[in-house]
Amino acid sequence: MSDPLLEIDSLSLGFRQGKTTRETLSRVCFQVRKGEIRCLVGESGCGKSVTGLSIPGLLPPQARLLGGRILFHGRDLTRLSEEELDAVRGKSIAMIFQDIMGSLNPVLTVGRQMTEGMRRHLGLTAREASERAVELMRKCGIPNPENTMKRFPHMLSGGQRQRVMIAMALSCSPELLIADEPTTALDVTVQLQILQLLTRLREESGMAILFITHDFGVVAEIADRVTVMYAGQCVEDAPKDVLLSAPAHPYTQALLRSVPDLRDDGKRTLYAIPGTVPQDWSRIPGCRFAPRCPYRRSACETAAVPMAAAAEGHCVRCLFPVPFGKEAAEG
Ligand SMILES: Nc1ncnc2c1ncn2[C@@H]1O[C@H](COP(=O)(O)OP(=O)(O)O)[C@@H](O)[C@H]1O
Ligand SMILES: [Mg+2]
Repeated sequence: MSDPLLEIDSLSLGFRQGKTTRETLSRVCFQVRKGEIRCLVGESGCGKSVTGLSIPGLLPPQARLLGGRILFHGRDLTRLSEEELDAVRGKSIAMIFQDIMGSLNPVLTVGRQMTEGMRRHLGLTAREASERAVELMRKCGIPNPENTMKRFPHMLSGGQRQRVMIAMALSCSPELLIADEPTTALDVTVQLQILQLLTRLREESGMAILFITHDFGVVAEIADRVTVMYAGQCVEDAPKDVLLSAPAHPYTQALLRSVPDLRDDGKRTLYAIPGTVPQDWSRIPGCRFAPRCPYRRSACETAAVPMAAAAEGHCVRCLFPVPFGKEAAEG
């Protein structure tokens, strides 16, 4: 297998609160290979966005690196100067967010915003950048792109704005796209079109995608590999088909059981994971999911649980994994 394009290597990170730093990410590890789509899933507040933002160095100043490395082509991004990072951002690594309005400038036309990065990073003239912008917007399914170029963000529908953001993110042909819940605010039809667009683009260009979502429907549609995060840690890492059919971590199993299934006529009682994500998780000595886990034993609550291989290419952070589907019998 080829070397990873991106390697998050034991990344620990916290936020300063007064005189102390509260640990938010604890030794997060995963890789993204060229052309691969990796999904990062977990409930709200588990550290997915912080992980995504840390890669291009977009965290607020109160964030502190506590350990680990972020290797992109083997180069540690955590050691780069702001200037060096700026050259990577928008060019080799692009990012799209859920909050599209917040990432588009309301007083500049779409065209102006689309062409700025290309002129800066690729040295294109205004005319060249404009032509490329139109071509990219057409590829992203924007009808009449010449006209859209002249518009302001608020004049577009949510779906069109998201396509503009994607076109903009792709404008410098990034090797890695980080997409943080980019389709959450869109209706399902537009969402599916955007997911299919991203899949097609990675096939055409070999671009890798780190896709952050809490939606297993999205995972099923787009992922090659999946990392499940809980309370600032990776708890499971597997190829998509394995994760969806044979999840090993009780948290992943619980997440999957709480997904509505369209085929069951609504007769099945939807499962809700009891409790909530803990607040100050770095103080939990054992398994961070133990307080909510139906299978916990006393050993789970005393010592930190390491990631361990469940099968080839499948890792799980659980001392006593129960096969999926057997829970009813055992639990
Ligand atoms: N700017 C910040 N300052 C302090 N804590 C933060 C900040 N941003 C995020 N956090 C904390 O990091 C944790 C993970 O947040 P986040 O990555 O946004 O979760 P997710 O994207 O999985 O919903 C949360 O507990 C949140 O309180
Ligand atoms: Mg988030």
